[in-house]
Formats: sequence, structure tokens, C-alpha cells
Amino acid sequence: MTDSDQPSGPYSRPPHQPPGRPPHEPPGGPPGDPDDAEAVRRPAGGRESSRANRGWWDRNADEYQTEHGTFLGDARFIWGPEGLDEAEARLLGSAGALRGLDVLEVGAGAAQCSRWLAGQGARPVALDLSHRQLQHALRIGDGQGGGPGFPLVEADARALPFADASFDLACSAYGAIPFVADPERVFAEVARVLRPGGRWVFSLTHPLRWSLADEPGPEGLTVVASYFDRTPYVEQDAEGRTVYVEHHRTLGDRVRELTGAGFRLDDLVEPEWPEWNQQVWGGWSPLRGRLVPGTAVFVCTRV
Ligand SMILES: C[S@@+](CC[C@H](N)C(=O)[O-])C[C@H]1O[C@@H](n2cnc3c(N)ncnc32)[C@H](O)[C@@H]1O
Repeated sequence: MTDSDQPSGPYSRPPHQPPGRPPHEPPGGPPGDPDDAEAVRRPAGGRESSRANRGWWDRNADEYQTEHGTFLGDARFIWGPEGLDEAEARLLGSAGALRGLDVLEVGAGAAQCSRWLAGQGARPVALDLSHRQLQHALRIGDGQGGGPGFPLVEADARALPFADASFDLACSAYGAIPFVADPERVFAEVARVLRPGGRWVFSLTHPLRWSLADEPGPEGLTVVASYFDRTPYVEQDAEGRTVYVEHHRTLGDRVRELTGAGFRLDDLVEPEWPEWNQQVWGGWSPLRGRLVPGTAVFVCTRV
């Protein structure tokens, strides 16, 4: 098997282990050890994906926050590895416009973005599938009463536990969308809980990256898979059990999913890699960042 046989992928997950490990790499740990997975491209359903990803994020939240907490900041809103900061980008609304808004953050992790939103005078609710990620939100706190000062909700973005028209704004920085098999279901849920005219802004790995090897160096500039192959990236244990999943859609797919759920696409932001950013984050690096987009941010309005 050659390097080009490795499953390509986007890997929204933290790069604390070599992403896209080749499928021929033999599992080395005890049978069934979820941290000793092999990577394949194969189908994975909705519940299967959520179950696997909840387990993965619960097991890996500590390492994720240790590795990336400083870059993310406790109370900043960073859209992705390029470092695009909402304080400058203002994709959610102009300075001052967030005050008093009810905001849902989907796939919030340790709720860094929600903490920034609270600082802007918004009323955020931070939702995540992973209990351990939300425990980090509690640990960081800053609401001065020992907690974050806003609600944390443990739930699957595929079934939002909120009444219709509860929020003015919804957002997500790499949360949930890349991980679900049925994104149209999440978009429909977000549309349901948003008030008419509400904005929905979310980021994910730029779909183009799915066709490239997930490597930060020059090898990551070679097309190794079809951009049009929507087969999920799956990590499975020695028993074949799914322990991690990411799902790919083309840009056109995303536009159709969004408009089908009742959104208007206002902008598609492809952050350029800035000079100041020298960090390598998995497959993201200054080298690749200057040549091909790594993140796509969709700015939509519920019509
Ligand atoms: C890459 S992290 C991003 C977290 C945070 N926005 C950040 O920038 O650090 C992805 C998050 O999405 C969450 N997630 C994955 N699938 C989800 C789902 N179906 N519903 C809700 N959250 C989900 C994970 O638990 C994880 O915390």
C-alpha cells in the first residue's frame, strides 16, 4: 500500500495524533481499544456518528483543551486554525449589535466563543454533545459564581432541546456540522429554533481539503482523493466499531442543504492565512494556508 492509499480527510478534530492514519497500520493496543483505531472511508449513519463522536470527544477533550486552549483563548471567538477572530471579522453583527441577543452556540466545546459573546452583552447558550468538553467550560468559568455565567446544554445538535423561535442568532466554530451524517437535520433544527431574520454562521474545514492528503507539508498539496467522494472518514477499533467520524459535503451540497432548510446564504468566507500565524495544527500550516483554503465560514439568514 502506498501513501496515496491513506484515506484523505479534513480532520476537524485536534491533531494530537497523526490524522488519517493509514488503514494498513496494525492496531497495537488491546483489542477494542478505541484509541487504537484504523482510518477508513466507509458509510456511517446518524446515530452511529453521534455515539462515536461523543465518546471520542469525551476521551480527548482534556488533550484538546491542553493543546489548543491557549490559541483559542478563554474568551475569544476564533473561527478556525487560521485565527480569524470574530472581534475583527464581525460575521455575527457589528460591534454593539450583539447586546441583548439570545444566541445559541452549537458544538461549543469549552464555550470560549460563548464567553466572548457574553462579554459583548449577548445571552449565549452553549450546547455540546460531549460531557467532558462542557466540564472544561465549567472549569474555565468566569461568570464569577464559579461557572461560566450562561447555560451549558449537553445535547446532540440533531435534536435541539429548545422551543421554536428561541434565539436571535446561532453560531458554530467547527462544532457539530463536520461530524454529523445528516447535516440537513441540524440545519432544520437551527432554522426551527431561530427567530425569522436570525443569522446562522458556522465554520468547518473547507471541503476542498478532503481531496488533499491531510499533511501540513508539501505532501499535503497533492490531490489523493476525489473531492466528489462523500464517503465518510471513519476511525474504527479492532472489532470494527466506529470510534470517530467526519462527514464530507461539497460546497454545492452545503448551499443546497442550507437553502433547503430555509436559509439564505449571505456570504462564504474563506479566511486567508495571516503572516503572524506560524502554528501547525494537524494538516493546517502556513505553507498550505497560503496556497489553498483551509476553512469555510457560511454566513446565512433564516428567511
Ligand atoms: C472541533 S470542536 C470545536 C469546539 C469549539 N467550537 C472550539 O472551537 O474549540 C467540535 C465540537 O463539536 C462537538 N460535537 C460533535 N458532534 C456534535 C453533535 N452531533 N452535536 C453537538 N456537538 C457536537 C464536539 O463534542 C466538540 O466539542
